[in-house]
Amino acid sequence: FHIEKHTEVLQALQMKYGDLYRQDNVVLSGTHTHCGLGGYFQYTLFMMTSKGYIKESTQPLVNGIVKSIDIAHRNMKPGRIFRNRGDLDDSSLNRSPHSYLNNPEDERHRYKWNTDKQVVVLKFTDLDGDGIGMISWFAVHAVSMNYTNRMVSSDNMGYASCLLEQDKNPGELPGQGGFVAGFSSSNLGDVTPNTKGPHCANTGLPCDYLNSSCPVGGVSVMCQAYGPGDDMFDSTRIIGHKIYSKAKELYANAVEEVTGFLHSAHQWVNMTDVTVQINATHTVSTCKPALGHSFAAGTIDGGGDLNFTQGAVEGDPFWDGIRDLVLGKPSNQTQECHHPKPILLSTGEMNWPLPWHPQIVDVQIITIGSVAVVAVPGEMTTMSGRRLREAVQQELESEGTFRDTEVVIAGLSNVYTHYITTYEEYQVQRYEGASTIYGPHTLSAYLQKFRGLAKAIAQDRVSELPLGPQPPFFKEHLLSWMLPAPVDKTPQNTSFGDVLEQVYPVYRQVGHIVTIWSVSAHTALWGSSGLSTQDKTFVTVEIYDNRTETWEIVHTDASWETRFHWLKGSNQQSNATIEWHIPSSAPSGSYRIRHFGHYKQWKGLQQVITAYEGASEVFRVASSFYSH
Ligand SMILES: *[C@@H]1O[C@H](CO)[C@@H](O)[C@H](O)[C@H]1NC(C)=O
Ligand SMILES: *[C@@H]1O[C@H](CO)[C@@H](O)[C@H](O)[C@H]1NC(C)=O
Ligand SMILES: *[C@@H]1O[C@H](CO)[C@@H](O)[C@H](O)[C@H]1NC(C)=O
Ligand SMILES: *[C@@H]1O[C@H](CO)[C@@H](O)[C@H](O)[C@H]1NC(C)=O
Ligand SMILES: *[C@@H]1O[C@H](CO)[C@@H](O)[C@H](O)[C@H]1NC(C)=O
Ligand SMILES: *[C@@H]1O[C@H](CO)[C@@H](O)[C@H](O)[C@H]1NC(C)=O
Ligand SMILES: *[C@@H]1O[C@H](CO)[C@@H](O)[C@H](O)[C@H]1NC(C)=O
Ligand SMILES: *[C@@H]1O[C@H](CO)[C@@H](O)[C@H](O)[C@H]1NC(C)=O
Ligand SMILES: *[C@@H]1O[C@H](CO)[C@@H](O)[C@H](O)[C@H]1NC(C)=O
Repeated sequence: FHIEKHTEVLQALQMKYGDLYRQDNVVLSGTHTHCGLGGYFQYTLFMMTSKGYIKESTQPLVNGIVKSIDIAHRNMKPGRIFRNRGDLDDSSLNRSPHSYLNNPEDERHRYKWNTDKQVVVLKFTDLDGDGIGMISWFAVHAVSMNYTNRMVSSDNMGYASCLLEQDKNPGELPGQGGFVAGFSSSNLGDVTPNTKGPHCANTGLPCDYLNSSCPVGGVSVMCQAYGPGDDMFDSTRIIGHKIYSKAKELYANAVEEVTGFLHSAHQWVNMTDVTVQINATHTVSTCKPALGHSFAAGTIDGGGDLNFTQGAVEGDPFWDGIRDLVLGKPSNQTQECHHPKPILLSTGEMNWPLPWHPQIVDVQIITIGSVAVVAVPGEMTTMSGRRLREAVQQELESEGTFRDTEVVIAGLSNVYTHYITTYEEYQVQRYEGASTIYGPHTLSAYLQKFRGLAKAIAQDRVSELPLGPQPPFFKEHLLSWMLPAPVDKTPQNTSFGDVLEQVYPVYRQVGHIVTIWSVSAHTALWGSSGLSTQDKTFVTVEIYDNRTETWEIVHTDASWETRFHWLKGSNQQSNATIEWHIPSSAPSGSYRIRHFGHYKQWKGLQQVITAYEGASEVFRVASSFYSH
């Protein structure tokens, strides 16, 4: 998920920069990971699943985004942009092929694959031709890490970004160095990175093709997609590496220069009642938001553990009964509007304590010369994205001002509204269709709205676009339902940061894992107000430099090579394991691992938060040659 743009980020930008960075020229597009912090979304459905609106998660994210923009702003200089595109195979599968096949045959025949394979790259250089950054788009879910993972991770896309930044900023830690490599999400709605495909975890056999169910012992939850690696870390590494390699190659060979004007167009749209003219005689309309039964089935990238299956076009009396009792019955009007979706949660009719889903969403296009970035507030399926790209390109080129346009879908932008399928895919009601919250004509409505923006850009009449209804920000009403972190305690005779299980004196490099256990404190304090969280890390791996006689940090907790697990124990005690997976590139030498945190304790009548740190004993990493 991703943070809502208008709620916090734009306010912070406005305070610093006045009217320079605005609603229309800033796009926040989420990379999409299931391994992030929760609690930074103001609609009730999302707050239900993340214990409310949590300032300790939101504030560091907002600060980080604004800081990135500050750095970019400070380093602004004249430069050049080049574009390139190429295909990446073996990194994605369609996870709802049955829905895809419901699209018209003649439309499907225009495409070789049932997912988009193209990687589009923009290369940024200074006037001397030295690279300063890159943005790429590729349509795949960043769910190589499955839901058993408890660590914060940016998944395959984040790993690709780390790899390219490491290449271009040699010797720098993650997030440091001048070169920025962005890997953005696109029309990934029906695309999984788990390329060995779905299998039943209980029988080893393929899942049911139509509803992704498994016989006995859990209906949807047993149907799991995995691969290409042996475990989720390996799969993340392989997919991330493929995306990185392709982007790097396209970056290196990008010669087609992007020149021309910059345009941005933005509108707010009340998605609950958009009327779309589908032909000379008929109009259709979008609906108040609602989720279908198959939403609760989940997907092959993480199934629901109740007895829901994908592809349900009829409700279940048992669950509908509970829903009616607890949350209320969907109105007839909403049921008819969403047909054939059997409504599980009529979120558009649920407003307590706050609306469960957004009504007002952002539609936005930014063009840089011949490149158009279409910011979509949700996860479009492959075919939805193709239709949208085509529509935008047609409108832009209709006035003769744009030629040879490269249109990219920037998915998950600005606000989150789940999925957007085609009308035909919607009829099948797999997870993506059940999660198309504004009903069967959601895509048609977006096509109409984005066409409007594209036309305004092509005719240079953006200033005439109506702004649309401004979305609410429920600021004062947003509450955290999370209990404050309790005071921390240590086991007898230990202090915070003490190492409980030590390192070995010597490690051979390849394949070895250095592990320590450390006395730790509640990690939620990380984002507490008053603590400086920028550039902080729970973990460092450090090498001793004999010449300068200092310790030099080689990894932080953001590094692929480290894993930090926090374990909440009983009696307000907690500890942490820290792993360093020694890469083959690690030089021989003397190392140590350090752990940082904050603990909370009573001092008289006050709770006081104090920083602590601890370090492992010094150990040596020797190449295998010496250790035998
Ligand atoms: C899934 O679909 C198959 C038909 O392909 C059907 O036999 C089965 O009962 C369905 N499973 C569930 C749980 O609905
Ligand atoms: C998640 O991945 C781990 C391996 O890394 C595997 O043991 C586990 O079965 C997977 N779980 C699911 C639900 O895919
Ligand atoms: C969106 O439109 C619906 C239907 O016209 C209306 O009831 C609702 O108040 C509108 N929402 C907002 C936030 O303006
Ligand atoms: C317009 O669309 C409706 C609904 O799909 C259809 O029933 C009608 O025949 C169409 N009319 C024309 C003129 O194509
Ligand atoms: C799901 O489980 C409930 C309670 O066990 C049962 O009443 C209902 O029939 C089940 N639904 C399906 C589709 O199996
Ligand atoms: C809703 O539909 C049901 C079944 O079609 C009908 O019995 C009921 O009267 C309708 N309710 C309203 C408020 O129209
Ligand atoms: C803690 O230290 C004291 C004094 O050295 C010792 O008597 C006691 O047994 C220790 N307790 C534990 C749990 O190690
Ligand atoms: C660096 O110092 C360590 C002892 O601290 C020693 O074992 C090692 O040989 C020295 N390395 C170099 C390159 O001098
Ligand atoms: C660390 O905490 C876990 C969970 O509370 C516990 O099982 C484990 O024994 C602890 N390990 C050490 C070395 O204290």
